[in-house]
Amino acid sequence: MIEIENLTKRFGDRTVLDDVSLSVANGEILAVVGPSGAGKTTLSRCVSFLERPTSGAVRVDGKDFTRLEGAELLAARRSVGVIFQTAPLLRRRTVAQNVGLPLEYLGATDGSIDKRVTALLEKVGLGDRRDDLPAQLSGGQKQRVGIARALALGPSYLLSDEATSGLDPATTKSILELLSHLRDEFGLSIILITHEMEVVREIADSVARIDGGRIIESGSVDDVILDPTSALARELLPDRPSVPFRGTGEIWEVSYASREVPLDWLTSIHAAPGISGAQVNVLSASVEAIRGVAVGRALLAIAPSAPAGFEAFLRERGLHVTTVDVRSKETAA
Ligand SMILES: Nc1ncnc2c1ncn2[C@@H]1O[C@H](COP(=O)(O)OP(=O)(O)OP(=O)(O)O)[C@@H](O)[C@H]1O
Ligand SMILES: [Mg+2]
Repeated sequence: MIEIENLTKRFGDRTVLDDVSLSVANGEILAVVGPSGAGKTTLSRCVSFLERPTSGAVRVDGKDFTRLEGAELLAARRSVGVIFQTAPLLRRRTVAQNVGLPLEYLGATDGSIDKRVTALLEKVGLGDRRDDLPAQLSGGQKQRVGIARALALGPSYLLSDEATSGLDPATTKSILELLSHLRDEFGLSIILITHEMEVVREIADSVARIDGGRIIESGSVDDVILDPTSALARELLPDRPSVPFRGTGEIWEVSYASREVPLDWLTSIHAAPGISGAQVNVLSASVEAIRGVAVGRALLAIAPSAPAGFEAFLRERGLHVTTVDVRSKETAA
């Protein structure tokens, strides 16, 4: 259990973190999202004890780690496995030697290092790459080496600062799957600092949005996405591809996050009273489930001749409708 309590960090007279409180239970994944400059990395440095907060506390399993000095501080740092945006691997050392580095610093014997490294590489799916040099690995594989090294000292929690931001979507997904698997296996608490909503959609149990050093919104992912007033909920909707559209009428964005909206709602729109297929055109649609809640977003082109009751028909089905564009005859020409 990690408890961040009223954490404030000032650099000179600039307040970069302002009264931040968050907690992460064992086996829970918390995603912290926010724009550039929001204070995410500063938070991650305070929570990994690389930076001392101006005030407030970070407790790990009930123990306040923020005021520690010397050997105790070093021990506290070892209890956190940190995964960085680019794994800081030593170029001239093999994969196995990189993973074993923290154990080597601690003075472990060669035999015990070898045993532990073999097990860790197996866990991250790199059992057959132990003798490779970092340059021989892909970005995702390097990140796996970084994760294995972060686990070397058996940390009680993992902290990742933008660990997937340089990776393509498929690799990001596989790294997130690995983290989620490690969480299940070791009951680890994981804090994922990210600017990618995809990360939240894929694996977070809870989410916090930070801006200007303050937590603007936080809660379980379920609660947040079902909250119609939440700005974060809107950001969590699947991306809406923009589609070229020629014609007259309006373009509506239809979105929802609900346990009630049937998954086949899209096919039922043509069942609206008085509507014909030609009057509603689905320009794009994406639907997915986040923590078992169906969330979706679609763009519909609505012909001027569509019946007036169509919007009410959609709203009665729990869908949120906004007009994003109105095409007149002139602009459509
Ligand atoms: N050591 C420092 N001294 C002074 N100001 C700092 C220091 N570290 C960070 N800051 C300032 O704190 C603010 C937050 O920085 P931080 O790196 O935490 O943001 P971030 O949310 O991680 O941004 P990004 O998404 O770009 O990584 C920035 O305005 C930055 O200039
Ligand atoms: Mg940062």
